[in-house]
Order: sequence, then C-alpha cells, then structure tokens
Amino acid sequence: MSENEVYALEVRNIVKRFPGVLANDHVNFNLRKGEIHALLGENGAGKTTLMNIIYGLYTPDEGEIYVDGKKVEIQSPHDAIRLGIGMVHQHFMLVPVFTVAENLVLGAEPTKGWQLDLKAAREAVRRLSEHYGLEVDPDAVVEDLPVGVQQRVEILKALYREAKILVLDEPTAVLTPQEVEELFVIMRELTKRGVSIIFITHKLKEVLAIADRITVMRRGRVVGTTTPAEATEESLARMMVGREVVLQVPKGPAKPGDVVLEVRDLKVEDERGLMAVNGVSFEVREGEILGIAGVQGNGQTELVEAITGLRSAREGKVLLGGVEAPFRRPRFLIEHGMAHIPEDRQKHGLVLSYSIADNLVLCTYYKPPFAHGLQRNQQAILENARRLVKEYDVRTPSIFTPASALSGGNQQKVIVAREFSRPVRLLVANQPTRGLDVGSIEYIHKRVVEMRDHGAAVLLVSAELDEIMSLSDRIAVMYRGKIVAIVNAGEVDKSQLGLLMAGGQLQPA
Ligand SMILES: Nc1ncnc2c1ncn2[C@@H]1O[C@H](COP(=O)(O)OP(=O)(O)O)[C@@H](O)[C@H]1O
Ligand SMILES: [Mg+2]
Repeated sequence: MSENEVYALEVRNIVKRFPGVLANDHVNFNLRKGEIHALLGENGAGKTTLMNIIYGLYTPDEGEIYVDGKKVEIQSPHDAIRLGIGMVHQHFMLVPVFTVAENLVLGAEPTKGWQLDLKAAREAVRRLSEHYGLEVDPDAVVEDLPVGVQQRVEILKALYREAKILVLDEPTAVLTPQEVEELFVIMRELTKRGVSIIFITHKLKEVLAIADRITVMRRGRVVGTTTPAEATEESLARMMVGREVVLQVPKGPAKPGDVVLEVRDLKVEDERGLMAVNGVSFEVREGEILGIAGVQGNGQTELVEAITGLRSAREGKVLLGGVEAPFRRPRFLIEHGMAHIPEDRQKHGLVLSYSIADNLVLCTYYKPPFAHGLQRNQQAILENARRLVKEYDVRTPSIFTPASALSGGNQQKVIVAREFSRPVRLLVANQPTRGLDVGSIEYIHKRVVEMRDHGAAVLLVSAELDEIMSLSDRIAVMYRGKIVAIVNAGEVDKSQLGLLMAGGQLQPA
C-alpha cells in the first residue's frame, strides 16, 4: 500500500500499565478499510486491554489513536461509538430477558422516545439482518437464542449504531465448529460492504482461514505483522510464544508396570437418573496413558466423577492400588496418590476468591509442612507458592492475587502445579487443555508425559481427538455409556477412531 494510506484505525505507541503488569508496551497497530485484521496472542498478551482502550473503557498511559487519519480522544464507549467503533465483547453484554430489538434500543441514544425507537429498531434488525445475512428475529427474547445467534445480536447492535470498525474479542471461543463457519461467512459479508474488522483470537487455524493480515502480540508487545500467505501454524506459534513450539508431543514408548487403577463393572447415573455409565471395566497401569475418546456426553463426565470421588456409582467398584475406594470421598483418593485435573476448573479445581498461594495447598493445607495440628504455617505456604509459581511458569502479578484474576491458561497451570507437586500414582486429567493457548497446551502435555515417565498411571479424557492420539498409549472409545473398544495407539488412525466414536465397528483386518 502507498506511504500515505489512510487507515480506518491506527494506534501509535500505546502504553497501559496495571499494578505489576505492563499490559500494553508501546503498541503500534493499524487497520485497513475493509480488511479482517487478526490480533493473535496467548492469554494475557494484552489484546483485550488494547481493544478496551480503543473502545474507551480504559485510558492509555501514553500513545495516540487515529480514526480515518485524524487524531482522536476516546474517553468513553460513547466517544468510540460516535467515531464508528463497535465492540463485541468476550462475554456478551445483552439483557437476557429483553427482545433483540429492545437490546438494540437499550443504551443507544434516545431519539424519538422508547416506543418509536423500538419500532425503528425492529425495522433496522430486519433490514440489517437481511443486508448482511444475519437471520435474526427482532422479537425473539435473547435468552431463548443459541449462543451463536446471541453473538449476531451483538454484531447487529454495533451495526445499528453505524459501526464502520468492528472489534470481535475471541468470538469463536463460545461457538461450535459449525457456528464458527457461519460467523466467518458473516465477517466476509461485512467487509465486502466496507466494515473493517479486528478479529481477536488465540487459534492459529482460524487466523489462517479468515484473516487478511495477522498481528501477533506477546507479553504486551507487538511481535510482528504477517499474512496467511506468508505464515504457517508453526511460524505463528513461534511468534506467539517466543520460541520453537512443538505441536507434536515428544514421547517414548510406554513401560507399563503394575495395575494402579482398576474399574470394574461400573454403572453411574446422571442428574436425571439415566444410566450414563452402563457397565464399564478397564485398567490403567503405572507408566502408561490410557486415553478415553468419545463425543462429549457419552458418559465420560459421570465416569470421571465416579472415579475421582465426586459422584456415587449405582454398581461396580473402583480400586486404587488394589484397595477399594469409597465413592464420594475425594480425600481418600488424594491420600492414596490420586491427582485430578477436573473438567470444570473454575468449579472443581480452584476456589476463585482465594489467593494463588492458598489454591496451591487446597488439598494439603491441613498437613505438615503447611500446618502443625491446628496451627497454620504461613511461611511454608508462601514458600511453596513462590517455588511452584516459578517452576510452573504461572504468569501472575503476585502469589496473593486471587485465582479469579488469572487467565484460563494460568489458572490451569495453578491446578497442574498443585496436583503434580504431591506424590502421584494416578493422574486423572479431564479435558486438561480445553480453552487454552498453544503455549499452555504444549506445557501441560509435556508435564503429563513426564508424569507417566515417572511411573504414574494416567487416565486422560478428552473430546479433542488430536490430543487423545498424540498423548495416549492405549485408547478406549466410549459410546453411549459403554467402552466399545480398547486399542493400542498407533494401530488405529483418526477416521477409524471417528467411526468407533459414532457407534460403528472396525472391519476385521
Ligand atoms: N483491569 C485489569 N487490572 C489489572 N490487570 C489487568 C486488567 N486487565 C488486564 N490485566 C492484565 O493485563 C495483562 C493483559 O491482559 P489482557 O489484555 O486481558 O490479555 P489478553 O486479552 O491478550 O488475554 C494480563 O497480565 C492481565 O492480567
Ligand atoms: Mg482477552
């Protein structure tokens, strides 16, 4: 492009500090008219901060913003909207009990009074919806709409306020693969009609599929700008993380030893009293990873909850090191050497309001060295936290920060640090990398393989077939509450596993 191209938006030398963090460190970024510019970076890189500055939610400590080549002051979302900037936040800001049209009018500047505005909004939804292929009913109540459609309402809201620049902050995180495809179609349609889009994500495949240009941020700085034609998943991962990233986990052959976990004829009911796990038996030995593959909702959650002491079973047994484990007694299992990375890290993995230091002793706070009798040893708790935060590379302003303030990847590292720093005979990892960035995924995969190589038995449950295939030594496929096959990894390919997961059968060789 020419030297004096006028950008839809440009920021120069933006600096934003938070206590203990330089969230934006002299950031330069520009957006061409009608382009999709992806902003890629790991959790905590500073993407949302930059967008909040552009949208007037934060004031930068330094730096300048230009819209259409003119320097502007953006001190509130009002200013941003007036300048034609719209934002779809990571967490939607809609009123669930209101209709689509009501949500559009709400917060917009009143022009003719509520009733007339509402009428205008309903017409606008129809018009915009048709124009951009959004397919949204103005009279639908927001809470009744699927997540993908709620997101389109957010986009509509921005368009209704005549946004020419649209910021989408991690829009695909909440979508199914099908909905992601639909969103991409809408994004292309928008740019064809002159809207410029900043698309924030940490997913490499997505930026390569949709972006015109890609800017990568790491630790508050812009690392560089590239295009899908020049980049690969590997090169982008390297830019994001700052070093070579192994997208494939290095792993030697398993050396299975004694049986650590034995599950016998287990039957477990779900919330509605249906038999979610319907007679499951398997073993996991020390030094091996058994992966459980399956489409979500085939009993994996209930199986893991029964094994880890969170749920009772209707029938059957769980034996840990040959000792029968009582159901609903997680502490028994922990004391017998079980570590657990739970599926819902915010509900079962952490106490979000507690500090990182306290979260790191959640299972051991009542024992030496962290307590002697009823006396809590604060010194030991803090030393433990300092050591683990360093060793597991938890990115946090301090060990006193509440867990709620950390990014998903760093929350997961806190759980992994805590669970792996006890003597572990059995590791149960359920969706251990869901929602995490490449750097954290690589890190957690390496640690899981290390656990195996130190002799732990590992039970891995994941809906990501790639994760199952790259980590497991043996793979059990779960379908409708039963294990339909157990195979050696390396003896099946992805399509064969897919077939088993859908209830099919392998042809005998
Ligand atoms: N309101 C805030 N107060 C304190 N620290 C914050 C705040 N918002 C973001 N941060 C910190 O700034 C850094 C960048 O965060 P963020 O912009 O949300 O990253 P990203 O969107 O790339 O995941 C992180 O270390 C985060 O903890
Ligand atoms: Mg963010």
